[in-house]
Amino acid sequence: MTQRAIRFYETGGPEVLQVETVSVGEPGPGEVRVTHRAIGLNFIDTYHRSGLYPVPLPSGLGLEASGVVEAVGPGVTRFAVGDRVAFGSGALGAYATASLRSEAQLLPIPDGVDDETAAAIMLKGMTAAYLLTQTRVLTAQDTILLHAAAGGTGLLMLQWAKDVGARVIGVVGSEEKAELVARHGCDHILLRGRDDIPEQVRALTDGRGVPVVYDSVGRATFEASLNSLAPRGLFVSFGNASGPAPDVTPAVLAAKGSLFFTRPTLASYAQTREELEGLASAVFERVARGALTVEIHQRYALEAAAEAHRHLESGTTQGATILKP
Ligand SMILES: NC(=O)c1ccc[n+]([C@@H]2O[C@H](COP(=O)([O-])OP(=O)(O)OC[C@H]3O[C@@H](n4cnc5c(N)ncnc54)[C@H](OP(=O)(O)O)[C@@H]3O)[C@@H](O)[C@H]2O)c1
Repeated sequence: MTQRAIRFYETGGPEVLQVETVSVGEPGPGEVRVTHRAIGLNFIDTYHRSGLYPVPLPSGLGLEASGVVEAVGPGVTRFAVGDRVAFGSGALGAYATASLRSEAQLLPIPDGVDDETAAAIMLKGMTAAYLLTQTRVLTAQDTILLHAAAGGTGLLMLQWAKDVGARVIGVVGSEEKAELVARHGCDHILLRGRDDIPEQVRALTDGRGVPVVYDSVGRATFEASLNSLAPRGLFVSFGNASGPAPDVTPAVLAAKGSLFFTRPTLASYAQTREELEGLASAVFERVARGALTVEIHQRYALEAAAEAHRHLESGTTQGATILKP
């Protein structure tokens, strides 16, 4: 069986992405062949492409998709031909019309969740789940500072935090994005580049600062995040959209008030099948009762993956982006 896939032979800008026809073999033991129906675009895909996160080359790309089981290999017990499935982790290769997957990475899509929603909510939704229920157990008493609140992951985190009852100070890059996060209940909206973030955060928290900052922007927002935390606050540095955050020294954490610092990844919060299923069910439960809605503002053909990358890296997308196989 042949498929169309995005592959790259060298790291670099979006132009390194090539559309190829490649063959997908029969599934081996424990493997499932999935025909993709929608593919989720994630910022991490740009780090793999650029070389910020090195991968062996040549390589496929993409970690998130939804689809249908077309064939199962020997010993597969969880899935059968025709099942609707989705994934948000595992081997790179979601940017394709089909792929072979270990059944351990796949999750069944509940009835009522459409293909695009499933493709947009696996990696991003499970990230929101572990960041807000495990990295810190968010409560209604918390106020959080959330950068890139209008992004694919940020918009889900915002909704999740509001569902918990927490107060959210969201940072966005444009007035248009401010309107989007306001529609999702963001309590206080700061504009990146216009507002002095630590000053505004302190004004909103009686001078104290917030107990937790969720920073996926990295280099550009690092100082502002550090200076927005209350004593014993938690700095959650979970991405590098503007470039990697600088190194953190223990002396700085001490000087800023006995701060905690973590650099979490989904992989380390979904190490077992039980952990993966726990995160996915927390996401789907919230989708089912309407607490989480996925906003897909950008759709591209699979072949236009390079254009989709340019758009995502320009910082001007809103909500989630989907590639259509
Ligand atoms: N550690 C994990 O487990 C994990 C999992 C998923 C995602 N992430 C991280 O979370 C972040 C968000 O991922 P996403 O896929 O949902 O992307 P996204 O938030 O939809 O897009 C990135 C956003 O970052 C903001 N940004 C600020 N400075 C930027 C710059 N110099 N260049 C580009 N964007 C800039 C922009 O929003 P504004 O204009 O509104 O600021 C932009 O829309 C990424 O850093 C990603 O690596 C981490």
